[in-house]
Amino acid sequence: MIALGCDHGGYELMQEVKKHLEERGLEYKDFGCTGPESVDYPVYGKKVAQAIVDGECEKGILICGTGIGISITANKFKGIRAALCTDCFTAEATRLHNDANILAMGGRVVGPGLALKIVDTFLDTPFSGDERHIRRINMIED
Ligand code: RB5
Repeated sequence: MIALGCDHGGYELMQEVKKHLEERGLEYKDFGCTGPESVDYPVYGKKVAQAIVDGECEKGILICGTGIGISITANKFKGIRAALCTDCFTAEATRLHNDANILAMGGRVVGPGLALKIVDTFLDTPFSGDERHIRRINMIED
């Protein structure tokens, strides 16, 4: 189950992401927001992070205008590794190296074509499981 959250700056792009996940037959839980009206991104960053910490969802996708505020919010939670990605290379690398559990994007930064490729790369790339990467991830929590 993929947890989804956005603010007004990410609302439009999130509709594209939802359509794409449906076409791929991937299940998601939408934590809002529910329209293009101005809202506060921390509300949605927290909901998605909590759903992952609780084990309700395995991964998350967060979108605000830049992807910055909502990823900063999510990264306050222990065990959350939210990666702000603007290209497929970083989306792949953050799965391989950081075992990132949340993909963050900026709805005012990336267009839908690139964003959906980033989503696919993020969701389809497994963690490498390499000892050095496990060690470094554990050091984040220390
Ligand atoms: C909202 O205008 C904007 O500040 C927000 O979407 C995000 O970019 C914050 O980091």
